[in-house]
Amino acid sequence: MSGQESGSGGKPGQGSGRFLRPAAVRECGALTALALRSKAYWGYDPNFIQACRDELTIRPEHVKSGRVVVLVEEATVLGLYALLPERRPEEADVRHFFIEPAAIGHGLGRLLWDDLVAKARSEGIKRLKIESDPFAMGFYRAMGATLAGKMRAPVKGPGGADRYLPVLYYDV
Ligand SMILES: CC(C)(COP(=O)(O)OP(=O)(O)OC[C@H]1O[C@@H](n2cnc3c(N)ncnc32)[C@H](O)[C@@H]1OP(=O)(O)O)[C@@H](O)C(=O)NCCC(=O)NCCS
Repeated sequence: MSGQESGSGGKPGQGSGRFLRPAAVRECGALTALALRSKAYWGYDPNFIQACRDELTIRPEHVKSGRVVVLVEEATVLGLYALLPERRPEEADVRHFFIEPAAIGHGLGRLLWDDLVAKARSEGIKRLKIESDPFAMGFYRAMGATLAGKMRAPVKGPGGADRYLPVLYYDV
């Protein structure tokens, strides 16, 4: 456990036996696999999921900087997020926000989100930017984020068609 005061400081989650802690570099492969499984929860075509692999890869440099946090229950990782600095000061990007498919819909997303906000606050971040999967937008809105627009997705859809992602902001 990292011993941070708030936000992923290895503290218990709201359900007993759950912990949030910084990810370890040796977990990058397993976390990337979790991200791909989680993205597939929405029923995307397997070819599309593979095309997202680079985008969803959990990178050692992000893990080493302490910016990737995992939610663990009974020695099993059930979710993760990454909080990456944005180009603008006091702003950060919410990335790789993923729950294990079998655990979706049971409050773990909110648990991770609360930790993410606490971590952002402890780092002096004032605003979070989220480039959301379209199916996940309702979750971020339920967390209090505001829809600001859309952006062209880095990975194209079936037949090479452009896809657009909702862009949301959250004031910390
Ligand atoms: C999006 C995701 C992280 C949400 O996690 P979760 O554990 O299901 O969320 P919770 O159960 O904590 O839900 C918290 C609240 O958000 C709401 N919510 C969750 N997902 C929602 C959705 N897709 N649309 C609308 N509301 C949603 C819940 O109803 C709940 O509301 P309540 O507290 O008022 O009852 C999860 O669905 C997931 O990992 N999806 C696949 C990967 C993905 O798309 N990640 C986001 C990438 S940008």
